[in-house]
Amino acid sequence: MEDKIGAMRAEALEQVDAAQTAADLEAVRIAYLGRKGLLPEIMKGLRDVPPEQRAAVGQAANSFKEALAAALAAKTAALTRGTLPSAPAFDPTLPGTVHPRGSRHPVSLVIEEAVRIFARLGFTVAEGPDIETGYRNFDALNTPDYHPSLSEQDTFWLQPDLLLRTQTSPVQIRVMEQQPPPIRIITPGRCYRRDTTDATHSANFHQIEGLYVDTEVSLADLKGTLAYFARQMMGPGVQVRFRPHFFPFTEPSVECDFSCHVCGGKGCRVCKHSGWIEIAGAGMVDPRVFAKVGYDAEQVCGYAFGMGIERIAMIKYGIPDIRMLYENDLRFLAQFR
Ligand code: DAH
Repeated sequence: MEDKIGAMRAEALEQVDAAQTAADLEAVRIAYLGRKGLLPEIMKGLRDVPPEQRAAVGQAANSFKEALAAALAAKTAALTRGTLPSAPAFDPTLPGTVHPRGSRHPVSLVIEEAVRIFARLGFTVAEGPDIETGYRNFDALNTPDYHPSLSEQDTFWLQPDLLLRTQTSPVQIRVMEQQPPPIRIITPGRCYRRDTTDATHSANFHQIEGLYVDTEVSLADLKGTLAYFARQMMGPGVQVRFRPHFFPFTEPSVECDFSCHVCGGKGCRVCKHSGWIEIAGAGMVDPRVFAKVGYDAEQVCGYAFGMGIERIAMIKYGIPDIRMLYENDLRFLAQFR
C-alpha cells in the first residue's frame, strides 16, 4: 500500500510539473484531491489495511496530500507571475516625484507676525471659544440688549444665551474673570457676523483683541502701542490716524486707521478711494466693564483694542477683495510661500 502511494505521489508531482495552464493544474487537483479523487479513496480504504500498517499508510497519504497541495500552490504562483509584464528596470537618472510645498495662509501669516510684534512689548496670547455666552459677548462688555450697537452686530444666535462671538472682546472678560491685574494680553481668533459678503466684509473673519490693565495706563500708551504695531507690521512709511468713536466697553473710544498700503494713500478700491483703511477699534476700558469682572475701577485703568486681521492682510499684501482669502484658490495661496 505504501509503495502504491509513493508511485502515485511521484506521478502526481510530475503532472504538476508538466502543467502549462491553470486549467491543467485544476485537473490534477481534482484527480487527486477532489471529492471523488484518488486520495479520498485511499483514506476510505484505510479501514481495510491491517492495523499494524495503518499508521504508516495514513502518514504516507497525509504527506502526499501536503506535498501535492504545496506543489500546486507554487506552480499556480509561477504561472501567474509569468503572465504579468515584467517590472521596468529602475532608472536612477529620472527626476524624482515632486511633492508641491504648501504655504502659510495670509491670515495665519498676519496673526503670527502680530503675536511676535506684541510679544516684544510684553503681551502674551490668551484664547477663548468661538461659541460664547451672550453675557460675555454683550452684557459684561456694557452692551445691554437694547443697546444700539447690537443692531450693528447682527449675531448668529445658537440658543437664548449662546452665540457665535461677534468679536474677540469677550476674551477680555474671560481673562479678567480669571486673573487679577496687571494684564497684558492679545487674543487672536475667529468672529462671526451676519454680514452680507462683499469686497471688504465676510460673515466669518478674524480679529486680534488687545487688553492692557495696570495702575497707570493712558490713551497715549494706546496710541504709541498701535503706532508701533503699524510700523512693525506695515513698514516705517505707514501713517496712523485716530478718530473719535463710540464703543460701549471703552470711554473714550477711538477708531484707528492705517494709511492704505496698496495705493500709498492716493486712493484705490481697497481703501474705497479715501487713502485710509479702518483697522482697529480701541479705547480706555470703561469702568463698568471693570465692575462686571470685580476689578476696582478706582485702582486700575487700562486700554483695549480690537483689530481686523483680514484688513491688515489685505493692505499688507495688496489683496483687493476679502473673498480671495476664503476661496482657497491655490494660484492665489501659493504666492505667500
Ligand atoms: N470689538 C470691537 C468690534 O468688533 C472692536 C473693539 C473696539 C475692541 C474697542 C476693543 C475696543 O477692545 O476697546 O468692532
